[in-house]
This record gives sequence, C-alpha cells and structure tokens, in this order.
Amino acid sequence: MSARSRNLPRRSCISTPGSSERFLAKAPSVTADMTFLDLEDSVAPNEKVAARARVVDAIRNGQWDDRVLCVRVNAWDTSWTYGDIIEVVGNAGERLDEIMLPKVQSAAEVVAMDLLLTQVEKNSGLPIGHIGIEAQIETARGLINVDEICAASPRLETIIFGPADFAASIEMPVLTGGVAIPEYPGDHFNYVFSRILMAGRANGLQVIDGPFLKVRDNEALREFAQRTRVLGYDGKWALTPDQAAVLNEVFSPTQEQFDRAYDILETYNKATEDDHTGALMFGDEMIDEASRKMAKKFLSRGERAGLRRSAH
Ligand code: GLV
Ligand code: MG
Repeated sequence: MSARSRNLPRRSCISTPGSSERFLAKAPSVTADMTFLDLEDSVAPNEKVAARARVVDAIRNGQWDDRVLCVRVNAWDTSWTYGDIIEVVGNAGERLDEIMLPKVQSAAEVVAMDLLLTQVEKNSGLPIGHIGIEAQIETARGLINVDEICAASPRLETIIFGPADFAASIEMPVLTGGVAIPEYPGDHFNYVFSRILMAGRANGLQVIDGPFLKVRDNEALREFAQRTRVLGYDGKWALTPDQAAVLNEVFSPTQEQFDRAYDILETYNKATEDDHTGALMFGDEMIDEASRKMAKKFLSRGERAGLRRSAH
C-alpha cells in the first residue's frame, strides 16, 4: 500500500478521461480529495494505447497538490491490463499513489495485480509496495466474493461500488445506474452498499460509492449521496468539479457534529483519567468507551476537512 495515500481523505474522487489532453491539463486545478486518470470506460477502444503516454505525462508534469493520485486501468478480461500497468507505473514516477482495478470478480485478480506491480516497481526503481490498489465491485460475482477480495493484498486501500456496471451485471431494468428509482419503495442498493461496507471495514479499507450520472442535478446528487454517507462510506465519485464541491460538503461532519464529538471526547477522557469513571452522563445521555470510538471518527474526518472546535 502507498503509505502516503492510505489515510488521506477521499470525500470526492474525480474521474478524468485519460484520452483528453484538455481534461488532463485541467485536472490538477480541479478541487477534489482524489483524482483518478481513467484508461477504462471513459476512453474509446481505439484511444486506449495512446492514452497511456498522455496519462504518464499528466502525472509527471501536472502541478498536483497533495491529493490522492490514481490511474484506473482496464479490467483483466480485456487485452490492455498488463500493458497499462507496465507503461503507466513503469514511467509515472513516485507521485502516482495507486492503481484502480475495475470489475474485480475474485481475490485472484487482486493478487495478480499485486504480483505484477511488484515486478514493475523492481524494474523501475520504485520502492516495493509503493503503489496501492483500489478495487471496484461492479458485478454480481464481485459482490459474492467481496470478503476475499478485500483481504487479497496489503496494497488494497479502498473498495468501491460501481453502480452503472453493477446494474448491467445483475440485469436491473434501468438505463441509468446509481440514481434513485422512484418505483422502488426504498433504497434498491441498500443490501449492496451494506455488504461492501462490511467487507471493507472488516479489512481496514476506505469504502467509496461510485458515480452519480445525472451530472446537471446537484441537488439530486446531494440527496442521493446521503444514503452512503449515513451508512459510513468515506466518499463518492465525482464526474464534474461541481459534483466534487457537493461531495466535499456531504462527506464532512457539520460544525455542530464536530463540536459535539470534541466535547464528548474531552469529557470522557477527563472522566476516565481523573475520576476513574467508565460510563458517565453527557447532557442527558449516557456515554462510555463506544461513544469515544464514534466521536473519534467524527473528529478525524472533521480535522481532515479543516474543522476546528468553535469558540464556546
Ligand atoms: C463505475 O465504474 C460504474 O460502473 O458505476
Ligand atoms: Mg464501471
């Protein structure tokens, strides 16, 4: 895993097509926690090979801040995967944090990627283990095998849900993946979201929701993104700078939540250390060690988002 990017925030993960000089040139100046340069589904088959060098050039010469920087390669069931890795990882240098592997169906696919990355790192002078892996779950088989997939390599940093390919894989009768279905009484992906979250958390991974394809409707995005935010996901994909701005907000704690978490921690720490008390009242609620764990997560997420305890 990439020690640098392992714990960086990924509230907004913006996609940039690797075949577009214009988008690649603009990508470093678009505010987002993570950028991934795509060689997969946003690149036409006859542009796949040429896009590799463009992506390498963008990584080496772009003015990147300290965000997570990733390249999505093509899936193992194509003929491009090994060439994508050898050319991109072999030439991009240390600024590349991770490779994203789409349509992962089994743990073996992650292991194969890990082994190939180790050889490429050796031959290109990168520290061994430098490149992290992000795995996308977007097929029925991938979901069935998600536990093994999440445990397949120490390089894994995130597990991602891909709603568009997933809807196609399970033959859901929709033409847009990853948006609300008004006819369905509830959240049609709740099981999938929860399943992936459990597997990811059981293996210490960040868990990310995929794209929202109605790119002109940011209010619908804000509402839809609540589903995975409330469950505990770390972030979601963005397809435009406006979507990234919405997601940075949605996946950050509010000032009120941050202040409350801060106060819970302060009160709890004082009680356990000074007064040797394990459970105590905080306002009209009982708090204990589990409250400390919940509060700590709000605090770390809030601090990553730049929040500080507001003045009393
Ligand atoms: C993303 O890759 C998706 O298929 O939703
Ligand atoms: Mg996909």
